[in-house]
Amino acid sequence: MKEFQFTDTDFQKVSEKVYSACGIVLGPHKREMVYSRLARRIRANGLKNFEDYLTFLDNSSDQEFSHFINAITTNLTSFFRESHHFEYLKSDVIPRIKQDNKMSKRARFWSAGCSTGEEPYSIAMTVKDEFPSDWDVKVLATDLDSNVLSKAAEGIYSSQSVTGLDENHLRKWFLKSSDGSQYRVKEQLKSLIYFKRLNLLEPWPMKGPFDLIFCRNVLIYFDKETKDSLFDGYHRMLEPSHGHLFIGHSETMSKERRDFKNLGKTMYKRVDVT
Ligand SMILES: C[S@@+](CC[C@H](N)C(=O)[O-])C[C@H]1O[C@@H](n2cnc3c(N)ncnc32)[C@H](O)[C@@H]1O
Repeated sequence: MKEFQFTDTDFQKVSEKVYSACGIVLGPHKREMVYSRLARRIRANGLKNFEDYLTFLDNSSDQEFSHFINAITTNLTSFFRESHHFEYLKSDVIPRIKQDNKMSKRARFWSAGCSTGEEPYSIAMTVKDEFPSDWDVKVLATDLDSNVLSKAAEGIYSSQSVTGLDENHLRKWFLKSSDGSQYRVKEQLKSLIYFKRLNLLEPWPMKGPFDLIFCRNVLIYFDKETKDSLFDGYHRMLEPSHGHLFIGHSETMSKERRDFKNLGKTMYKRVDVT
């Protein structure tokens, strides 16, 4: 017997709300996950069951809706996750940007769905030393979930979450707490990154162009229609001659799309089709 009643209708209503707010598709296999994550919200609000919570959600402020969405998102990430992307960034993408942007001396990167920040900090660590100091280099890091975004902006990580980083990176870019349990990102790295809350399904306020967009392990939650409209948006936002898009290891782009060249290993380059 469960603590809170959770009917098929409740699950359907939750799924519809989540889909229309942020495009995340909650299939039937997500039912248990939805129960355990939202049970916390029901308890926090002192309610009796899911039906009451859904009514409460409809009548309450944006604050509870934000808690609701934050509870649903999955935020798993790590430093230098899918490391081949960072190797290719260094060996191929950065030299190309340096060549093509030598007049403007400007480079822009976007981590779309940055979660707790490990991805944008990994981008920043990779690019920081590769551009001369007179270049204007910035990383935009966005996420829908306001909790993970504040953790990202804070830049404090447990010793467990930095295990993927080598000694050089740790020494160069982090300050270790006196008891060794925490690592704080140094200001000179953090200052490269601009953190902003952004729902990818809502209008994008930035103009671009970006030289490289990371949208990894985010598209997996969306249906084909949402993915295609995001790919259209990324295409528009990418620098025309060399803009790259990296997606997650289990994500795919439809082969029919002619506006991106598949470079293998979930890496794509913008192509202009006439
Ligand atoms: C699994 S994490 C991926 C983090 C990182 N990109 C990586 O690959 O390690 C997925 C992130 O996508 C975010 N997300 C999901 N739907 C979103 C949406 N509609 N707009 C913006 N971010 C979204 C979630 O909040 C979550 O932090």
